[in-house]
Amino acid sequence: MADVLGYQGKVCVITGAASGMGAAATELLLQLGAEVHALDIGDVKAPVKQAIHTNMMDKASVDAAIEQLPAEIDVLFNCAGVPSPPTPALETILINFVGLRHLTDALLPRIRGGGAIASISSTAGMGWKANLENVKAFLELGSFDAAESWLREDGNCPGDGYGFSKQALIVYTQTLAGELAKREIRINCISPSPTDSNFMTELTKTIPKDAITGFAPAHGRFAPPEEMGKALVMLASDLASFVSGVNLPVDYGYCGEVAMGQRDNPMNIQ
Ligand SMILES: NC(=O)c1ccc[n+]([C@@H]2O[C@H](COP(=O)([O-])OP(=O)(O)OC[C@H]3O[C@@H](n4cnc5c(N)ncnc54)[C@H](O)[C@@H]3O)[C@@H](O)[C@H]2O)c1
Repeated sequence: MADVLGYQGKVCVITGAASGMGAAATELLLQLGAEVHALDIGDVKAPVKQAIHTNMMDKASVDAAIEQLPAEIDVLFNCAGVPSPPTPALETILINFVGLRHLTDALLPRIRGGGAIASISSTAGMGWKANLENVKAFLELGSFDAAESWLREDGNCPGDGYGFSKQALIVYTQTLAGELAKREIRINCISPSPTDSNFMTELTKTIPKDAITGFAPAHGRFAPPEEMGKALVMLASDLASFVSGVNLPVDYGYCGEVAMGQRDNPMNIQ
């Protein structure tokens, strides 16, 4: 069959490849013939070209990984992330967004024309519009150090660190799309509904699963990580070659129901 997804021989960098959606995407990329370079704080089991132990909340660790990555890259997948609770809000924002942006900005010059970036945001970030001014002000801080210093100042760190980190990712994705289009590079993200992964195991130690079920699709099913890995790989593939600046809800209709007033809207999705 023709390589319609276009991953054969492509150089892919992926964070969060040790488990969940990132591991699922990694498996798929390997099956599709990609050369995969994986970054994770944990051990990556898949037979990737290179696995680099990286802590996304530690700038020096991300910089050390950047040095080991290839000079030319086709696709960057940003999958690493933590739930909050239990992770403190500040650490969550550093891992889920500040480290992600540092890596992405550093790798941008290495991404070849025709390349793509695909990241994992969340339904929890879908209320970004109502908070756009605050998110933009945070993005304008620019560097890892400036963002971290601001977050550490008394009273600055948002209480909902998880939601804020995912809002920031959606706004960042849309903000970069125009500039990257001039280089023929696409940038998108997905917003998964609740998914059964280690993330969910950690989250449900603090928040009862019943409370999270309210954010599940109408069939009540939590996604297996593979269903998110597939959507992410599709979005960065040649099949989506004119798709950029998009935050794709992968939620079996949850956001559609909210938009049509068929469900409550606790996350203020507009
Ligand atoms: N599971 C859900 O319900 C859900 C819903 C929406 C969005 N998400 C997002 O999906 C992404 C993938 O999560 P998942 O559900 O597959 O969970 P997961 O816990 O299975 O995978 C997360 C991966 O990130 C890695 N990681 C965590 N902290 C890190 C750090 N400091 N540095 C480097 N790597 C680190 C972990 O080792 C793991 O491999 C995350 O960004 C998460 O926020 C999850």
